[in-house]
Amino acid sequence: MDIMDILPQLTLEEKASLCSGYYYWHTKSIERLDIPRVMMCDGPHGLRKQTGPEDHLGIHESIKSVCFPSASALAASFNTDVMKELGECLGKECQTENVGMLLGPGVNMKRSPLCGRNFEYFSEDPYLAGELASAYVKSLQAQGVAACVKHFACNDQETERMSIDTEVDERTLHEIYLPAFEKVIKEAKVRGVMCAYNSLNGTFCSENKNLLTDILRDQWGYEGFVVTDWGAVKDRVEGVRAGLDLEMPGGPGAQDQKIVEAVRDGSLDERDLDRIVKRILQFVSDCTEQKREVVKDYEADHKKAAELAGECMVLLENRDDILPLKKETKAVFIGEFAVTPRYQGGGSSHVNPWKVEDAYHAAESAGADVTFVKGYDVKNEKDKKLAAHLIEEAVEAAGKAETAVVFAGLPDEYESEGWDRSTLDLPEVQNRLIEAVAAVQPNTVVVVHAGAPVIMPWRDQVKAILLAYLCGEGVGAAEADVLYGSVNPSGKLAETFPLELEHNPSYLNFPGANGQVKYREGVFIGYRYYDKKKLEVEYPFGYGLSYTSFDYDNIRLDRKEMKDTDVLHVSCRVTNTGNVQGKEIVQLYVEPETDPALEERPVRELKGFAKIDLKPGESREAEFTLDKRAFAYYSKELHDWYVPDGEYRIQIGASSRDLRLEDSVRIESTQALPVCYTQYITVGRLIRNEKGRQFVLKALMKYMGFSKLEIEEQSDVEECPERIEQTIQTTMLGMPLRSMVTYGALREEQLNRFLTEINQESC
Ligand code: BGC
Repeated sequence: MDIMDILPQLTLEEKASLCSGYYYWHTKSIERLDIPRVMMCDGPHGLRKQTGPEDHLGIHESIKSVCFPSASALAASFNTDVMKELGECLGKECQTENVGMLLGPGVNMKRSPLCGRNFEYFSEDPYLAGELASAYVKSLQAQGVAACVKHFACNDQETERMSIDTEVDERTLHEIYLPAFEKVIKEAKVRGVMCAYNSLNGTFCSENKNLLTDILRDQWGYEGFVVTDWGAVKDRVEGVRAGLDLEMPGGPGAQDQKIVEAVRDGSLDERDLDRIVKRILQFVSDCTEQKREVVKDYEADHKKAAELAGECMVLLENRDDILPLKKETKAVFIGEFAVTPRYQGGGSSHVNPWKVEDAYHAAESAGADVTFVKGYDVKNEKDKKLAAHLIEEAVEAAGKAETAVVFAGLPDEYESEGWDRSTLDLPEVQNRLIEAVAAVQPNTVVVVHAGAPVIMPWRDQVKAILLAYLCGEGVGAAEADVLYGSVNPSGKLAETFPLELEHNPSYLNFPGANGQVKYREGVFIGYRYYDKKKLEVEYPFGYGLSYTSFDYDNIRLDRKEMKDTDVLHVSCRVTNTGNVQGKEIVQLYVEPETDPALEERPVRELKGFAKIDLKPGESREAEFTLDKRAFAYYSKELHDWYVPDGEYRIQIGASSRDLRLEDSVRIESTQALPVCYTQYITVGRLIRNEKGRQFVLKALMKYMGFSKLEIEEQSDVEECPERIEQTIQTTMLGMPLRSMVTYGALREEQLNRFLTEINQESC
């Protein structure tokens, strides 16, 4: 498509018409100029293509396609190869179904474990989310299908998601809520960005120039196009000015008409419109050019979905090595989810699965000695009589078996797009069931199906807990594989499981009030908070067990001193010390030991991870490369990343709370923070600047009778009399500079002259 040739041929109305979609899933075509329609579909963990009635809430049927593990499960794999394989399968399915863009991945942050859509998001850690999303996008796009990273930005809750104003400070925004988007844009060159429904610091994302132009395009160099979340447009013309390209879904044309009128009355520059038309045409043209003939293989993709699910499950407990089970062990599987598992969340990502495998039938057909009892009835949870009967039946069966495996979890209506949870509890009837079973059967295992953290009050009463998350349609096969040991679990938590909901840092400000939610916890979300507060948690970030064990040694840093512009290479050796093959997720955290008077920082942050597959007795090196961003925080003074001088500990371990190796590097900054000095700057702050220190010393020396010289003429004070040093350290550090005038140690003019001088250099 020759866009520069087409553009002048388009009428104003045609240009405006291209700015919104054709119903729910297509861009508009213009036949006279051979501009075709392109289809977009949800995403992210399966293809939700509607061929009949259309909607964006997962109400109407979509074609059958393979449902892969959802994002919270995928994140637990800590494996970019898993994301790569997923992207490849989905890319091929999209090509066969003539879909040009898949609406995902979602990289919003798990600020609160209550967010109803957490199952669709990766992590509470932006680095991990960015790495995984990037791998997915690269591989999907390598198949010629555009990805669309969403929801830009700070759409981290479902309550009032279409209208709430999110108040986030600049540092927190850049440090926590934007980096995953940034990575996907800069590194994976994603072709689509979906702007969020909510407003950010007072301006709706769909008309937020700071987000859509200043950050996205000017700072990050994004070249793709921006589509609204479905129905996110507020003021369409303002959106055009801000950098919003395509409005979805398309309506009867009223918004397009507003664009036409704004150009006609001169309030909108037609060049702004041309810019977005070009970007939309570029998208359409790329999709058409990248169309490929692919034959999809559902059966193969289904197998892949089950294989990937096996990489995502997290073994939380395994007392007495009860798992893996032996096939000859007489086991009873208890709970509806053993035969009708919960494997995906509700809303726009809801896929019509190709086929769903449940654990009971998978285990049975693999030759395991297993029976089934229902345990609870999801649809009639409130029926007390029925619950009592089902529990009694389960207890009896558990007592007769050698092992009981309870399949528990959150039913569909507990978590979904569209609303947030109000509690981290499992259905009460399930908790009672587990406790009753564990009371009669010491060998009780619990499998949990949930897209986000739940509280497990019975966790010390059972022998093993396997977290299956929402692991897609292959969930049952993967569960059987893990329970019986043909797959060694290797997932780790990409989010903290708190002991109590009230411990979560967003607790006091979630989901907000009066149309606004304030991210008052700042950068301290997830483990960044729990570690700072030294809080005990149910399970920490990065935690997960294996059927084997791993040793860590030989940490090596290729330098002990560096500048913030240098790169640090780190490696360590990991050895499988157990009897079975297994994969270890090796995690690297950076702990800054810098001037505490600067911005408050998390104790440590994840800056690298590697998943390593090891045979028994085998050792391999894990390697990491750390650049400036691994050490930096976002400075609101510089409006940029800043690495303060100091010592940085490099810690490597098996989880955020199981650090096995440590070394450190000293970093020298090549940047200076701008400081604006006022009369009210504290003496403590001022003397960190050598010029400031000299000024204070000289004034004090004169005041205290140590020097008769005029302050201005005096050369630098090399050695300061002890009494003066003491006075500064004991009483003056917190004193505003101006007090030296009040106490007579300085004249007002001297102070002002000094401030003008020093600010010329540093402000
Ligand atoms: C969701 C998006 C989704 C879109 C289209 C919206 O309600 O927030 O994630 O891609 O609908 O279904």
